Amino acid sequence: SDPLRLGIAGLGTVGAGVVKIVRQKANLLATRTGRPVEIVAVSARNRDKDRGVSLSAYEWVDDPVALARRDDIDVLVELMGGSDGPAKAATEAALASGKDVVTANKAMLAHHGQKLATLAEENGAALRFEAAVAGGIPVIKALTEGLAGNEVTRVMGVMNGTCNYILTRMESAGLSYREAFEEADDLGYLEADPELDVGGIDAGHKLALLASIAFGTEVAFSGVDLEGIGKVSIDDIRQAADMGYKIKLLGVARMTGRGLEQRMAPCLVPQTSPLGQLDGGTNMVVIEGDMVGQIVLRGAGAGEGPTASAVMGDVMDIARGLRIPTFGKPASALTKAQPATVATP
Ligand code: HSE
Repeated sequence: SDPLRLGIAGLGTVGAGVVKIVRQKANLLATRTGRPVEIVAVSARNRDKDRGVSLSAYEWVDDPVALARRDDIDVLVELMGGSDGPAKAATEAALASGKDVVTANKAMLAHHGQKLATLAEENGAALRFEAAVAGGIPVIKALTEGLAGNEVTRVMGVMNGTCNYILTRMESAGLSYREAFEEADDLGYLEADPELDVGGIDAGHKLALLASIAFGTEVAFSGVDLEGIGKVSIDDIRQAADMGYKIKLLGVARMTGRGLEQRMAPCLVPQTSPLGQLDGGTNMVVIEGDMVGQIVLRGAGAGEGPTASAVMGDVMDIARGLRIPTFGKPASALTKAQPATVATP
């Protein structure tokens, strides 16, 4: 049958990972989806960078919006990042012309998800973003598919691996916040703007997206009560340890009688709990549903392989003809999120 033709915008770590999967796993993709998955054209800022994979078979397009509008692609894979600018322009161009979009862009979805999902629906296009939340952990698929029959009562988790790495190093190696931050920087973990990580913003974006899906509400990033890890001291961590706790940058979203509560802040978690045992640069998402009880998902929240894995899951859903609404139900059916003032614990 007809191949599914991809245009990839953004060839950083994740983009290169996606190209590798498409090239190396062509047979698996075709047999599992029933059709070949091919890359037609690519776009990135720097044409000459060595990405460890050959791009010579693909047409190079300088302008991502021009890539998005090409008639010979079915899906735009947007991996540029940034809430506005070229990523948003290319996503809008693709959706407006009825092309499906797969993206890892949590900032764009957190700020414009509602509008983009509406645009997708108006044009009969799919907009999928599994890779935007908790990297390789298929948490969006869990919520929108496997758990679709549940009323979700609470969703929470550690969704920024860099912060978890920093807090873990402070705890296990006795490093100061500054030293652990610099170590994370040396390892290349930090976002270009580190405040996105340590300020809790990146994790807050992810929490707002999960809350929208879990509670059927419009994405409300501005309703996330945000506090980063910059003020966590080694003394805080030691005192927590003395009492049997660890400090984690924990996101919690739940629907209360007062409205939607979304909170991302350093929290005490028992050392023996699943969240308390999550050390290093990993992620964990805990979902509680009325039918299923508690589910714990754990895995890599960043990196080439895990994030490309999530992108490919979405691409393969599209290749199979699976149509799932962006936020689990039609954008027009999402209700306004009444923000609840968070009760002080
Ligand atoms: N900076 C993010 C993290 C990358 O550390 O988890 C994935 O969004």
